[in-house]
Amino acid sequence: MSRKSTVIRRGLFPGSFDPVTLGHLDVIRRAAPLFDEFYVGVFVNPSKKELFFPEERVKMIQTATADLPQVRVIAFDGLLADWCRAHKIDAVVRGLRSTADFEYEWAMAQTNRMLAPETETVFLASSAALSHTSSSTVREIASFGGDISGFVPPAVASAVYAKYQERNKEG
Ligand code: COA
Repeated sequence: MSRKSTVIRRGLFPGSFDPVTLGHLDVIRRAAPLFDEFYVGVFVNPSKKELFFPEERVKMIQTATADLPQVRVIAFDGLLADWCRAHKIDAVVRGLRSTADFEYEWAMAQTNRMLAPETETVFLASSAALSHTSSSTVREIASFGGDISGFVPPAVASAVYAKYQERNKEG
């Protein structure tokens, strides 16, 4: 009896996610169904001063994607290409919000392709309504007490405000 070989398609959406936004979640929700296993990779960058610890960022994404069975949220450090090779990632997914993202993403895709030619980079065009969203905009608005409900899920908004309250108390 011949046995069909099963090919598992694995995708990875890497980023800083500090914090995850509706723009990121739009990419995750559209990309995840294209793969059997879809990883969201929170990059741990010790040289960057971040608002949230990596484990907090992982938890927020897990909560926001709890209804997507193929999504696994992980933290990673080091080279993206190395992680992809070690975990047999077929494609890295990145969102393109505008032409402004293109040059940077193009360079990153070419570099990753040189380091891990077996992993493709796939771009998803951001949904138009979310093309202006970024994590730093969210952080800046929240730091002045502004309304971030149009950019992040409610649980993330509460966590961001709580961080700034904590910081303000610390002085
Ligand atoms: N919706 C909303 N915001 C988006 C977005 C989307 N679809 N796509 C990108 N962004 C925003 C992010 O919010 C972030 O905003 P901010 O700068 O205002 O905080 C910004 O675009 C950068 O996006 P991010 O996904 O965090 O990318 P990055 O440039 O920090 O790259 C990695 C992160 C992890 C992909 C990259 O640094 C990496 O691969 N690092 C590993 C080391 C390595 O391999 N280096 C060689 C790579 S060539």
